[in-house]
Amino acid sequence: MDDFRSTNRDHWDELADLHPSTPLYDVDGFLDGESSLMDLERDELGSVEGKSLLHLQCHFGMDTLSWAREGATVTGIDFSPKAIEMARELRDEAGIDAGQARFVESDVYELPENLDGEFDIVFTSYGAITWLSDIGRWAEIIDHFLTPGGTFYIAEVHPVVGAVSETNGEFAKFEYPYFSDEVHRFESDEGYASDDKIEHGTTFYWAHTTGDILNALITAGLDIEFVHEFPKICYERFPNLVEGDDGWWRFPTGKPDIPMTLSIRATKRD
Ligand SMILES: C[S@@+](CC[C@H](N)C(=O)[O-])C[C@H]1O[C@@H](n2cnc3c(N)ncnc32)[C@H](O)[C@@H]1O
Repeated sequence: MDDFRSTNRDHWDELADLHPSTPLYDVDGFLDGESSLMDLERDELGSVEGKSLLHLQCHFGMDTLSWAREGATVTGIDFSPKAIEMARELRDEAGIDAGQARFVESDVYELPENLDGEFDIVFTSYGAITWLSDIGRWAEIIDHFLTPGGTFYIAEVHPVVGAVSETNGEFAKFEYPYFSDEVHRFESDEGYASDDKIEHGTTFYWAHTTGDILNALITAGLDIEFVHEFPKICYERFPNLVEGDDGWWRFPTGKPDIPMTLSIRATKRD
């Protein structure tokens, strides 16, 4: 593992320890039976009943376990040992059988060495791909783990959001490049789910354009079923966004907006 990834892993280990007690993640609600999934991925992926589902970058497993509650046999993978430990604890606390939900500690790029098998569905979501340096290799790994005819689905923060530093009044302020092959360094003394101070505040991330993501999937052997862009985001990314009754955050009505969520469904070619 290179220095970028080990620095990121220290950061995510710390957040995995912190996040289960933050209101944003609402573990109590989950334990009471609520799903942590957004309506978007549930509607667009459709029924997972009886399917095998591989969740890449599962964090501490709430979404993975929510898919298990919908009838899938799930495998969550993440490179953070703390996240995997917390995911297994949450699974046991939620009374979900280990035969239905397993968690594997692995870097995405090392997954073929750490996991066997093929899956009906490969899923990943919000805040995942910016941590990955090589989007082409990521797509090859998705293809590797999909059964022929299997489905890949991603609901992700739209790449355009990464080019916006903040909002200026009611408008998005573009400050970072949308097109960039370089690694970016970010420093913060707090995470995104609470204002608790953190020790491992350095992270490295990569920008991938919508075109890069689509072309990587096509080149790896997937047929794109749809690509959707939405002027809404699942968390309060900018201070002037307004939360709707549906839990999504949007720019105020009538004001200019930008795409803030991207979803893609694709099928592995036979
Ligand atoms: C924002 S979280 C994803 C949250 C996700 N939407 C969920 O289900 O909660 C990003 C996750 O990616 C993981 N991650 C980052 N780089 C990774 C890598 N190279 N391999 C595997 N996991 C990685 C982090 O440990 C973290 O748990």
